[in-house]
Amino acid sequence: MAEEDKLEDRPGRAFQQKTTYDRESLEEIIPDWRSKPALYKFYSHAPVIGLPSPAWRDDEDHGPDFLQIVGKRRTVRSFGATPLTLLELSRLLWASAGVTASFITPQGQDFYRATPTAGALYPIETYVVVNKVEGLEPGLYHYRVAGLDMLERPIVEGSHALELLEAGDLRDEISAAAMDQGLCGKAGAVFVYTAVYARSEWKYRERSYRYFYLDAGHMAAQLSLAAVAQGLGTCQIAAFYDDELNDLIGVDGKTEGSLYLTAVGRPSRAALAGESDPRNTARPKE
Ligand SMILES: Cc1cc2nc3c(=O)[nH]c(=O)nc-3n(C[C@H](O)[C@H](O)[C@H](O)COP(=O)(O)O)c2cc1C
Repeated sequence: MAEEDKLEDRPGRAFQQKTTYDRESLEEIIPDWRSKPALYKFYSHAPVIGLPSPAWRDDEDHGPDFLQIVGKRRTVRSFGATPLTLLELSRLLWASAGVTASFITPQGQDFYRATPTAGALYPIETYVVVNKVEGLEPGLYHYRVAGLDMLERPIVEGSHALELLEAGDLRDEISAAAMDQGLCGKAGAVFVYTAVYARSEWKYRERSYRYFYLDAGHMAAQLSLAAVAQGLGTCQIAAFYDDELNDLIGVDGKTEGSLYLTAVGRPSRAALAGESDPRNTARPKE
């Protein structure tokens, strides 16, 4: 059978091949700045909850150094009952998706964030299913990366917020969407990364789909290290039912779709002792 025929049945390989760059066929893409999609998503009618500054406090123990943090990171699938604090959540959000510096574009001032992203186009949005976080009601939130009032005034660097999209206990729904992985219901919070496809397609066309996963991976990796730095643990999750997860967070799957999840919480005693919890680890479909 010819290689072309086989590719029809191999969408993964076909994707990789069809998004290949080579010197002969690569067309120069000159982005049209007038049609550049907005880099920020707002839920303008959602209640906005400002988050504390992620900076370490003077009286705080700054935890392990960077190399120790890397050495200590291990997937945690068993979480204790103690809630996350709002400050811990703020740091997790900032370290994975927050604003860190500004730059100038032909359209004006814009902002760099904590992780690298192809073309500074920031296609990844962060949603958080909050199960147990002090000072936050359980529910679905969207991360507003910068400026409570950035539509009216320039962004104040370091300011960031959550938008409450739906209040309620979503532990069963998020576990079900993650292919019945019960650890999602036991985590303090579950981060869901989506891509807004048009943001990168504007410049990179089909090649964008490679970059979405790379961008989300960078963000999840930094989140996992920010968790260890605060004595927390994470489990990355790519096994999920796409439609169920997209429905849960309210995206259509066509213009914006879910890519990846990270469950985060305080490791249980068993997890700290290096034991796994068999009730949470049934994951044959990973
Ligand atoms: C892309 C990706 C998807 C994953 N999906 C799941 C998952 O659905 N459920 C799960 O329990 N662990 C999942 N994991 C965690 C891996 O099982 C884990 O990283 C691996 O066993 C190595 O262990 P370590 O993270 O402790 O180094 C995933 C990890 C990655 C990078």
